[in-house]
Amino acid sequence: MINADTEVGLAARVRSLTRADHEAAETTPFVTDLMAGRLDVGAYARLASQHYFIYETLEQAAAALRSDPVAGSFVAFGLDRLPALCADLHHLRGSGWRTEISPLPATRDYLSRLREVAFTDAPSFVAHHYTRYLGDLSGGQMVKRALRREYGVGAAGTSFYEFPGVAAGAVKRRYRELLDAAPWSAAEQNRFISEVKQAFHHNRAVFENLAA
Ligand code: HEM
Repeated sequence: MINADTEVGLAARVRSLTRADHEAAETTPFVTDLMAGRLDVGAYARLASQHYFIYETLEQAAAALRSDPVAGSFVAFGLDRLPALCADLHHLRGSGWRTEISPLPATRDYLSRLREVAFTDAPSFVAHHYTRYLGDLSGGQMVKRALRREYGVGAAGTSFYEFPGVAAGAVKRRYRELLDAAPWSAAEQNRFISEVKQAFHHNRAVFENLAA
């Protein structure tokens, strides 16, 4: 049961209520193997390919909700990843990359969920935005270091993890302030938190598919 207690800010609440979901995603075998150098560049290219489909749809949802007063302030951080992903995939897979990749079943489920809730409902959109982009600005930076250290992937294949002109610490602080200030009802806040859990679930399922 999600507690709608408003004395603790939404940012701290979502963080503590999804700690176990984060840990489950972070400790799936695909992620721990990738981080420890037990996979190869091909595995990373397969992950980046699934990211392509996820961010394509997530960033379409961002465009749909750009003028929403709350969702729009998160979109305005300008964290879009699709151009960087296209460049990385071109580098990793060659110029025919787009015709070689397709979404895994778990990715298709993730995209269906995005289409179902994230194009029209601001709390649900922000939930998916938060789960991906705050993760990219946090653990994503450790993934980038592992990719460079363990597999020798250079800057050209890891631009997904680079946010030029973005001060990660300041953005994360401001992001949490915006979450705390969102004028959402208790029901909307609860919808946000349960959708973050849902987003973690989808990410974990994609890792499980990638390992299969
Ligand atoms: C290699 C795997 C991962 C590592 C090592 C990792 C590590 C971390 C760390 C250290 C933080 C705290 C950063 C801070 O306080 O500034 C963090 C935050 C976060 N991570 Fe991860 N993470 C990983 C995977 C993931 C995945 C797969 C997701 C979801 C797709 C994710 C989503 C998040 C989110 C949303 C936050 C922000 C929490 C908040 O402060 O509100 N992480 N991660």
